[in-house]
Amino acid sequence: VIKLDECDSTNNYLKSHFDELKNKLPVLITSALQTFGRGRDQRTWVSPKGKGLYSSFGFVMKTDQNIHLLPFTAGISVIETLEKISGLKFDLKWPNDILYDNKKIAGILIENIIMKDDIHCIAGIGINLNHAPHDFPLELENIAVSLKMATCAVEDYKVDRVNSILSEILFQWLEKMKKKSGEEIIEKARLVSAFMMNKTITFHRSPGDELVVGVYKGINDDGGLKLEIEEGKTTTFYSGLF
Ligand code: BTN
Repeated sequence: VIKLDECDSTNNYLKSHFDELKNKLPVLITSALQTFGRGRDQRTWVSPKGKGLYSSFGFVMKTDQNIHLLPFTAGISVIETLEKISGLKFDLKWPNDILYDNKKIAGILIENIIMKDDIHCIAGIGINLNHAPHDFPLELENIAVSLKMATCAVEDYKVDRVNSILSEILFQWLEKMKKKSGEEIIEKARLVSAFMMNKTITFHRSPGDELVVGVYKGINDDGGLKLEIEEGKTTTFYSGLF
């Protein structure tokens, strides 16, 4: 575990120190604040000190170890962590946005480096822990929430505790993913994504950033998203992992 007071982005830190870290994997880089936190689709992840958990897990997987399920595996691990800490229920919006009461509470940025049969995975996780509504940028105030807001807690959540629960849960699920028990991961992902059934969802598809709009029809056995784009016609999408 490497604990930083400050960095640009924990994902960037892991990438730029990869040569010195590659023999020490798995590793967890966590920072009290990020000056250039990154989200998916080139968005910024605003990362003020003391408000959130900003962590990147680095580990190695083999290409035949169900790697396409990594977004779900990370998503359900964050959900289990939050549920364990708070007793509340959280939702997963495909592939890996974590919502509470339809508002975003956590996000995941997965970046992989493929080297022959090995995939060096970077799973960057941001969790809103201690924000008050005014701690979010204005444009996020109505669509983001923190754990402290959700639970109406008085005390702040401790980042170290959340990191240690998250690490334990994530590595348990990664072991299952490696051992090819993909069904268990997909079942769990279906359960926590059930709120989306028959709702219209939109997302940006890479490369090209094309906007996709369709009605959610579930997750197939490979972890693909089934969307009804035209009436009666379902198309399957896979998250842009590679
Ligand atoms: C998203 O929902 O768009 C993904 C957000 C991911 C944010 C985390 S914070 C830790 C890690 N470092 C980053 O720069 N991003 C991820």
